[in-house]
Amino acid sequence: MDLETYVRALPKAELHLHIEGSLEPEMMFALAQRNGVALPWDSVEATRAAYAFTDLQSFLDLYYAGAAALIQEQDFFELALAYFARAHADGVVHAELFFDPQTHTARGVAFATVLDGLERACIEAQAQWGISSRLILCFLRHLSEEEGFATLEQAMPHLARIHGVGLDSSEMGHPPSKFERLFARCRELGLHVVAHAGEEGPPAYIVEALDRLGVERIDHGVRAAEDPALLERLARDQVPLTVCPLSNVKLCVFERLEQHNLRQLLEAGLKVTINSDDPAYFGGYIAQNYLETARALDLSRAELKRIARNSLEASFVPESLRMPWFARLDALPD
Ligand code: ADE
Ligand code: ZN
Repeated sequence: MDLETYVRALPKAELHLHIEGSLEPEMMFALAQRNGVALPWDSVEATRAAYAFTDLQSFLDLYYAGAAALIQEQDFFELALAYFARAHADGVVHAELFFDPQTHTARGVAFATVLDGLERACIEAQAQWGISSRLILCFLRHLSEEEGFATLEQAMPHLARIHGVGLDSSEMGHPPSKFERLFARCRELGLHVVAHAGEEGPPAYIVEALDRLGVERIDHGVRAAEDPALLERLARDQVPLTVCPLSNVKLCVFERLEQHNLRQLLEAGLKVTINSDDPAYFGGYIAQNYLETARALDLSRAELKRIARNSLEASFVPESLRMPWFARLDALPD
């Protein structure tokens, strides 16, 4: 079995995927036309050509502009269904999708419109491909905690359909501590909690996410490598990191994939997973992330299997649902 076939055959969970980041330029243009929305680019080609990022903010500016094409419930359904089709082809058995309601409600799209479309795709993905999924509401950290509370209020009637909350958008200058009260409330409501930390921000933001927000996983977290005590803590407590290697290169966190610290994190005993973040913008879906990282860092099949196992263990589904995935994983050779 060649490496690409092996990577696709690994049953895996995707735990760090912004559904708006799976909006391919072709769909962006089709939806913009259908909805009569103007985009800042003239063509699909010009859009792709604009995807040359220098940092997180330079990406976010384009990402929010592209999301303007999403208006109707059907748009969110088609977006998520297209993601699930690709995820299925990549061996994803379970996906926990981030969505950014504030990006849409700010444009007058109702919270329920977003959620209804995404949820319908989740149900369809289970029926068509047997993929299970969960929805994680992300608060935009460049906005205020008060605005986060207003979004939580809008989410309240739908909490049975929302599994957890996260924190994304511009990291620098917006430390996790800014959202301490909001996350405490979300935990009280029984929601799972995660946060982006240590993507561009310092290791101290990872510590804050753990201590002040009580997060169960860290999204990215690669800058933990700069703090030996934090590395030891993350390894001891087996806090999952949802690492996104192609994203990190596109956003200049690492200059080249060969310089990525994923192997170092793995060897320090951390529960590392591989994910795609915003695959339409960063050059590949989850299997491409596994494959290119394996090649760049010379990861063995046993290491890839370990990473896939980590992703299944780090998912927010009960043990009983995971058993068939582990059986499939164990059946693969090293
Ligand atoms: N929103 C979408 N992708 C993101 C990322 N990589 N970091 C922070 N916010 C995001
Ligand atoms: Zn992300």
